[in-house]
Amino acid sequence: MILNNIVKNCFQKTNVYLISVRNKVTLPSLRYKYEDLEPVISRDIMQLHHSKHHAAYVNNYNATEEKLQQALSQGDANSVLELGSALKFNGGGHINHSLFWEMLTPNSSNTKISDKLNGAIENTFGSFNSFKSQLSAIAVGIQGSGWAWLGCNPTTKHLLLIPCANQDPLKETTGLIPLFGIDVWEHAYYLQYKNARADYVNAIFEIINWNYVSQRFENVTSRN
Ligand SMILES: [Fe+2]
Repeated sequence: MILNNIVKNCFQKTNVYLISVRNKVTLPSLRYKYEDLEPVISRDIMQLHHSKHHAAYVNNYNATEEKLQQALSQGDANSVLELGSALKFNGGGHINHSLFWEMLTPNSSNTKISDKLNGAIENTFGSFNSFKSQLSAIAVGIQGSGWAWLGCNPTTKHLLLIPCANQDPLKETTGLIPLFGIDVWEHAYYLQYKNARADYVNAIFEIINWNYVSQRFENVTSRN
């Protein structure tokens, strides 16, 4: 994370000075070009999605966090509580999209699902195709905007499929560790797929970075 902002809040209380140094969140660079996910996701969608939508979550989160610091420093409890929903929405948007870009790749055929994750998927959902069908049904069925997730319980190590509304982040909302997610906000597909969300959901399985998803599963299951 780039340290791009230093804020010094000095509170003089007799001879005590408190200095806080804060990092702002930043828009992550993609590991591929906007056009590289075509034909599954068009260049126009990727450019808007990353440089406008994700950037807005980043900017709004940082702006809200500044207001929060100010409210905290003033002991303004009402303002602190009022900022909670904006922090969750914009912070969640940043967390979700940062994961999403890494979970996709133009070279999906050069990535491989690990035997361990594939075995867990087959044990949990019956088969890979059944997993794909169930996750797709959740993604297509989300009313309004949200995400469909494959998550892992960090305690039991069990896999679960679950929807999240809006930009609610999976881990902070449910405790599950996100392994793979599908953004079904209209900004993710409408320019290309129009109202055919199911076609977008079906196509996105062609660009999954299975190396990354498998490593996330390994990270969860190797922890005590
Ligand atoms: Fe999105």
